[in-house]
Amino acid sequence: MRPTIIPIRTYAAEPNPCAPAPAGALHLAAQMRRRIIGQSDAIDAIVPYVELFEAGLAPEGRPVGVFLLLGPTGTGKTRTVEALAEAIHGSERHVVRIDCGEFQLEHETAKLIGAPPGYLGHRETQPMISQQKLNAVQSDRSGLSIVLFDEVEKAAPSLARLLLGVLDKATLKLGDNSSVNFERSLIFLTSNLGAREMARELTDRVGFAANLDALADPARLHAISLNAVRRRFSPEFVNRIDRAITYHPLDADAIQEILRLQITALNAMLEDRLGGAAFQLILSPAANRFLTEHGTSPEYGARELKRVIHRHIIQPVAQLVLRRLTVGERHIHVDHQHGGDTLSFYSTDKLPLAA
Ligand SMILES: Nc1ncnc2c1ncn2[C@@H]1O[C@H](COP(=O)(O)OP(=O)(O)O)[C@@H](O)[C@H]1O
Ligand SMILES: [Mg+2]
Repeated sequence: MRPTIIPIRTYAAEPNPCAPAPAGALHLAAQMRRRIIGQSDAIDAIVPYVELFEAGLAPEGRPVGVFLLLGPTGTGKTRTVEALAEAIHGSERHVVRIDCGEFQLEHETAKLIGAPPGYLGHRETQPMISQQKLNAVQSDRSGLSIVLFDEVEKAAPSLARLLLGVLDKATLKLGDNSSVNFERSLIFLTSNLGAREMARELTDRVGFAANLDALADPARLHAISLNAVRRRFSPEFVNRIDRAITYHPLDADAIQEILRLQITALNAMLEDRLGGAAFQLILSPAANRFLTEHGTSPEYGARELKRVIHRHIIQPVAQLVLRRLTVGERHIHVDHQHGGDTLSFYSTDKLPLAA
């Protein structure tokens, strides 16, 4: 079941300073906690900026907030931005997302802002960022635009220079000389800068078969990632960030909870797609263990979990549906036999269903 989304008051052009606090924003933290596991520092840092905007009190002449989300791969940095869009606008698609990996070369920033008039390709290059695109990710629930510069460590220095103006003055000049205004934007930069140093520290301290608890000192992790950021970006750039937050490696409990979230979402999808023929999946502890062991790692966090669920549950379940083996079943039990490299499926009455 998806959590109920409570609408956030639409931001008025002339905000009334005496208006009551928007009810939606008050529930935002709770909604985020249901979607993002084990990273409450990030939620606590982000929510007040949304509230400031919804209350009509965000400062002028700069973005509503600028966040740098740091920490190892697969710990929920990008997911946080998607989850915020879901909570605020009702869908994770309400994000202007720039993959900085596409801007590794100096001249590639032209793709972001469009080529200047007179240059070859001027007509063909539609800028990836425009006022229209920022406005299009707002919704009737909220006038806040969420902008994500993902994996910013991959960006060429020319992109970092463009970003300086955005972070500082909330404007970006496009190739055709028009300007984009970011005063109604919440800007997220994500990066795994420092993650390698964290991993090295882990191995140095406790040897190869490391326990992630050794990395549980949040202040130490934060210092490592901030140092890496300072080596990579100029002080001006770093100074324009409102909050830098370091995501922790996920512990076993967090990973279990993330798996539970994904299975809940999968069951909701089955309900939605199969209608009257829908059934719910029920995983045994052994099936849970199989998925978390194959879908998570210290190096990639929970990044592979979705793929593993796809391969080991969704694909075989599709086979069962196609072969009409799920007809009349309300539950499909999923189990794992010790040593096996696939999962097994059982009917509501726990009779084996051959996939
Ligand atoms: N803390 C978390 N809470 C909920 N889901 C998570 C979390 N961390 C990772 N995931 C899951 O793993 C996937 C990859 O995480 P992502 O946010 O893309 O990692 P990164 O930190 O590298 O940006 C997400 O789509 C989500 O399904
Ligand atoms: Mg990411």
